[in-house]
Amino acid sequence: MKVLVIGSGGREHAIARQFASSPSVSAVFVAPGNDGMKQDVTCVPIGVLEFARLADFARDNQIDLTFVGPEQPLTEGIVDYFMARGLSIFGPTQEAAQLEGSKSFAKELLKRYGIPTASYGTFTDADQAKNFIREQGAPIVIKADGLAAGKGVVVAMTLEEALEAVDDMIGNQKFGDSSSRIVIEEFLEGEEFSFMSFVHAGKIYPMPIAQDHKRAFDGDEGPNTGGMGAYSPVPHISSDVIEEAFDKVVIATVKAMAQEEKPFAGILYAGLMLTKEGPKVIEFNARFGDPETQVVLPRMDSDFGEFMSALMAEEEYELKWNEQAMLGVVVASDGYPGELQKGAVLPDLSAMSTDKTAVFHAGTKMEGDTFIGNGGRVLLIASKADTLKTAQKEVYNTLSKHEWNGFFYRTDIGWRAAH
Ligand code: AMP
Ligand code: GLY
Repeated sequence: MKVLVIGSGGREHAIARQFASSPSVSAVFVAPGNDGMKQDVTCVPIGVLEFARLADFARDNQIDLTFVGPEQPLTEGIVDYFMARGLSIFGPTQEAAQLEGSKSFAKELLKRYGIPTASYGTFTDADQAKNFIREQGAPIVIKADGLAAGKGVVVAMTLEEALEAVDDMIGNQKFGDSSSRIVIEEFLEGEEFSFMSFVHAGKIYPMPIAQDHKRAFDGDEGPNTGGMGAYSPVPHISSDVIEEAFDKVVIATVKAMAQEEKPFAGILYAGLMLTKEGPKVIEFNARFGDPETQVVLPRMDSDFGEFMSALMAEEEYELKWNEQAMLGVVVASDGYPGELQKGAVLPDLSAMSTDKTAVFHAGTKMEGDTFIGNGGRVLLIASKADTLKTAQKEVYNTLSKHEWNGFFYRTDIGWRAAH
């Protein structure tokens, strides 16, 4: 089996590596990938939005399956494009990807089908939005309707912050078109977790859950980011809660999308809050999470290629996961998620990969014979162990042996779970 993975981050490195380690897979290509992946797979210099060139590549190289990492090609219709050309691709159609691409679409669907989520209002008019906020009071959450690379959410603890967010998004078009419409939501309190499932032709295979750390700095302080570290499993979320979330959210959403005649295929990522009233949806993504994938996929015991073939062929498959714990810490360029300092030299990474510890490249570039930082999130270092505590110790041991000039990482990933 030959596989093409689309994307260039740490998530795609994890997806590509999982395919590469599958006995059923003979070749893995990543478009465009990054320099750090080249030790594991073949990178192809085609951008994620160059649909025609990607499809030509898949056809010319007899690719059996194309797997899409990031959201943008999905919301722009890569799946529809490949399908129209008779090529096998895993992911949602453009219509179904609205579950991630439009927060108001997702919220309306949730409301219509009684799937638990925060109460909300949708606005394009700043004055109406502000009146609604004054009625509701703070804390309150303001979200750009469209894609904003994980940065379009303001959790406002004061009225002032909330009103300012409305001005930024609608008035100043902070996220361009993505924020000309905003969703204003009830603030949910509780424990957050990420629940991802493989979905295809009505079949749903849930994955072990993970917890991400969205804030930039220790103690969950600082601005929201794409994610600074993650771990799986999440011991303080019980199996009863996971089952409830699976029934009331995941299955219910897949059914709702089918009923709406926008059947969902691909990775359904439910970002959930465990509130006093049970799990509620914070957001959906229509793809794998980053960095959750890097700590969830390596826990798969089944042959990934074989599983994906069965899924695409609509055959039954017993998908197996192991009981090991995995914890990963993101190394980011100084300044992330704001103004970046790119180009700093990374320490020697070769010694960091062991049978317990994996290095996933997100934004690295080879210059001469050293890697340099070439993005916001640069690497994720993850360890696998019998317990989260041991995995955490292992990762931080590895990190502390090196100099990270020009980079930073959180020192408390897993603090809720690893005591
Ligand atoms: P999102 O991009 O929708 O995942 O939002 C980013 C982060 O903001 C989430 O991971 C939560 O930590 C937080 N957040 C989003 N919506 C809410 C909400 N309704 N209540 C509390 N926190 C929220
Ligand atoms: N880590 C959250 C996301 O991928 O959206």
